[in-house]
Amino acid sequence: MARIVGGLGSPHAPSVGAAVDRHEQDTPYWKPLFDGYQPMRAWLERERPDVVVLFSNDHFTSFFLDVIPTFAIGVAAEHEIADEGWGKRPLPPVPGHTDLASHLAQSVVADGFDPAICHRLPLDHGCLTPLSALFSWTPAWPVRVIPILVNVLHFPIPTPARCFKFGAAVRRAVSSYEDDLKVVVLGTGGLSHQLVGERFGHIDPVWDAEFLDRLQDDPQSLAALEHRDFIERGGSESVEVILWLCMRGALSPKVRTVHRNYYHATLTGYGQLILEDLGGAAR
Ligand code: DHB
Ligand code: FE
Repeated sequence: MARIVGGLGSPHAPSVGAAVDRHEQDTPYWKPLFDGYQPMRAWLERERPDVVVLFSNDHFTSFFLDVIPTFAIGVAAEHEIADEGWGKRPLPPVPGHTDLASHLAQSVVADGFDPAICHRLPLDHGCLTPLSALFSWTPAWPVRVIPILVNVLHFPIPTPARCFKFGAAVRRAVSSYEDDLKVVVLGTGGLSHQLVGERFGHIDPVWDAEFLDRLQDDPQSLAALEHRDFIERGGSESVEVILWLCMRGALSPKVRTVHRNYYHATLTGYGQLILEDLGGAAR
């Protein structure tokens, strides 16, 4: 039986991926963030997951205004590196897991969710930033990745409660897969940030800390909030924390934070998190 051993949280801002490509991890600007990845990399090397289920969003790369799926699952055997307009990042294609991804799709549909099933889903910074910060890809990516993209860009976007429940459906799907696979779920995106309008640059570290506390202890209370609540506290783009709620929903009610870091040198509050799953069924 496949099982989820833990959940990770990571930013996905493109500047972090660019810092990886330019080998800037040890510069004064980036070191506080990349130091926060070290315990995560060590944890992943210890746990050696077979598969990462990666909750992120597309940034008008694979989808555009003509078609925007609310939830989309990448079932390809291999995921291409997308060109976001300035050339592809120097990364090899990311291996997928078609069989588990197809099972996930089937299982969440049976559970009342209707994701788009994507046989081709080039990955943009939403997926590649966290993957390239958490893993080495030489000689090969050490893990298979199932990208699950959630619309956080264009309203109507799914409610926080829906995302939390979707995570739980993913947990049930993983638990009902026959093969003995170790799975890690990864929630991505900035915590507080606003990249447009009057409050451009808004960051609230106090709210971000409260969010991370509640994500461990009382995720239901976060799932009960409205988009407006997240936007008021954390800024318009911080609404993408619903991706972290997908991740949390895929864990059991009891989790333990084994690593947490916070950094905000740029326009985004960056949170980094390892939640160890203490077991139990999905809600
Ligand atoms: C930026 C883009 C993102 O998708 C994000 O989550 C945070 C920041 C950016 O362009 O800086
Ligand atoms: Fe984003």
